[in-house]
This record gives sequence, C-alpha cells and structure tokens, in this order.
Amino acid sequence: MAIQRTFSIIKPDATRRNLTGAINAKFEAAGLRIVAQKRIKLTREQAGTFYAVHKERPFYDELCDFMASAPIVVQVLEGEDAIARNREVMGATNPAEAEEGTIRKEFALSIGENSVHGSDGEDTAREEIAYFFSGLELVG
Ligand code: CMP
Repeated sequence: MAIQRTFSIIKPDATRRNLTGAINAKFEAAGLRIVAQKRIKLTREQAGTFYAVHKERPFYDELCDFMASAPIVVQVLEGEDAIARNREVMGATNPAEAEEGTIRKEFALSIGENSVHGSDGEDTAREEIAYFFSGLELVG
C-alpha cells in the first residue's frame, strides 16, 4: 500500500460543538497523520466553488449556506492508503447508515450536517488540497 495524502474538512456543525479535538483523535487512532491544518471561515462564494460538482443537486444551496455558516477546519491527512482509510473512519455520508465507531455515527447530526468531508479519490484529493493549501504549508 502506498503512502497517500487526502483532504479533510471538519464542518461547521462540529466546530460549533467544540469537537475538533475529538475528531482529530479518531483520525490519529486510525493511523492518519494531520500534516497540515487551519481553521478558516468560508464565504458563501468559496463554499459554492468548492462544492461546484454538486451544483445541480437539490441540496446545493443548503450545503453552501451551511458550509459558510461558521468556521471550518481544513486539513491534509497522510498515511497508508489515506483516502480509503479516511473514508472508513468518517463512515457513510448519512449518519443513519454509518457504522459503529465512525465519526459520522458518533458525531453527525444529519446527512447535511455530517461533521466531516473527505476526498473521494486521488484526483479530487490533489485538487482539494491545492484549493486550500500552498506547497509551503505541507511539511509532512
Ligand atoms: P460531503 O462528503 O461533504 O460531500 C457533499 C455533501 O453534500 C455531503 O458530504 C453531505 O453533507 C451533503 N449532502 C449529500 N446529500 C445530501 C442531502 N440529501 N441533503 C443535504 N445534504 C446532502
């Protein structure tokens, strides 16, 4: 298995409830290293650009409003098979379908307010990391 990097967001529902540390503990327990991290607040426009792939979905406006509603923590996670491993630790998008022990099972409030985002493949990971971080901020 190769060492990979993936992009992660701790979403507004989680930062509001002071869950950044609890969620980071889950990543680290799963063998993922947080190699870059910053707390920022997106504008509605920045949220819309990030989620442009979902533009035609009925939940797009609600998703963008939510993502711009409070600070988020953007992160780069590194480890063996990091993209798949992170998706396992996050659990299913809908917390009602997430497995025991996953972040979304323990912390998510709903399919929209689902506490975390993680890249779904190598290309998206590269694009999403580059949207938020410069090379100088990635120190492994
Ligand atoms: P995320 O992994 O960030 O990618 C897209 C997001 O859209 C997803 O997590 C959910 O938070 C959100 N989403 C997906 N389906 C729905 C839905 N039916 N209603 C509201 N939000 C949704």
